[in-house]
Amino acid sequence: MTELVIITDDGPVRTVRMNRPEKKNALTMAMYDAMAGGIESAAQNPALRCLLIAGTPTGFCAGNDIGDFLKMATKSGALGAPILRFLYALARCETPLVAAVQGNAVGIGTTLLMHCDHVVAASDARFSTPFVGLGLVPEAASSLIAPRLMGQARAFSLLVMGRPLSADEAKAAGLVNTVVAPDAVEAEAMQAARAIAALPPQGVLASRRLLRGKPDDIVARIDAEAELFKTRLQSAEARAAFEAFLTRKR
Ligand code: COA
Repeated sequence: MTELVIITDDGPVRTVRMNRPEKKNALTMAMYDAMAGGIESAAQNPALRCLLIAGTPTGFCAGNDIGDFLKMATKSGALGAPILRFLYALARCETPLVAAVQGNAVGIGTTLLMHCDHVVAASDARFSTPFVGLGLVPEAASSLIAPRLMGQARAFSLLVMGRPLSADEAKAAGLVNTVVAPDAVEAEAMQAARAIAALPPQGVLASRRLLRGKPDDIVARIDAEAELFKTRLQSAEARAAFEAFLTRKR
């Protein structure tokens, strides 16, 4: 069976690659667990000095699997434990995080980038968070990080109005560092990851801690959002939106 998340160590850089191309890398519970494991275990290996999160040429990530959302809505309503494990891993990760984004980054595909230290995007990348249109609320502490990063007006447009950002707009908003041609994304991101990995590691660790502060407020916001998310998942609005996506005609 094809691995849905491929973890590859190349010298000091670990790549965590979402690999469900036929579903545009929509994330399943097993994928969240695998990605969280890849991030958490990097911390145990001092030889690994940078993490690179990547998708496939078909797209970066189409967000949470909507079929899984529907299952959660009809069962407990709670966000699955693997999702929270992944979000905590991002928030608490002390290894620098680089991302390489091609094509669509939807939902968690965009909000996970708010935890990254360096993001390279293809010129055709598109960032969107259609939470509210799906009857949901933002997650991954994006409701805290996005206004700090891009200001209230742009954060509202992205997170509440659901208006997508192009690669250039995402760069102007501070979400993306570099925009390159689609076929250059992976090489550019790997080069950045290697450059970070080549820096004195203790200096990087101490500086990164200074820049990010303690993760406590991020973790608290992840929890607060998850509580609201649970209520929203069980709403009639959300169920109708999931069913509409799953039964859409194309
Ligand atoms: N959950 C489950 N399946 C998904 C999915 C998701 N989040 N995103 C895409 N897919 C599936 C599609 O249903 C389709 O499956 P099929 O081939 O069996 O019919 C396949 O992946 C390809 O998707 P498609 O929509 O044909 O690709 P596209 O290139 O035209 O559009 C997206 C790509 C990402 C813009 C579009 O798929 C989309 O909007 N997905 C939903 C994103 C979303 O709302 N995520 C939740 C965020 S909170």
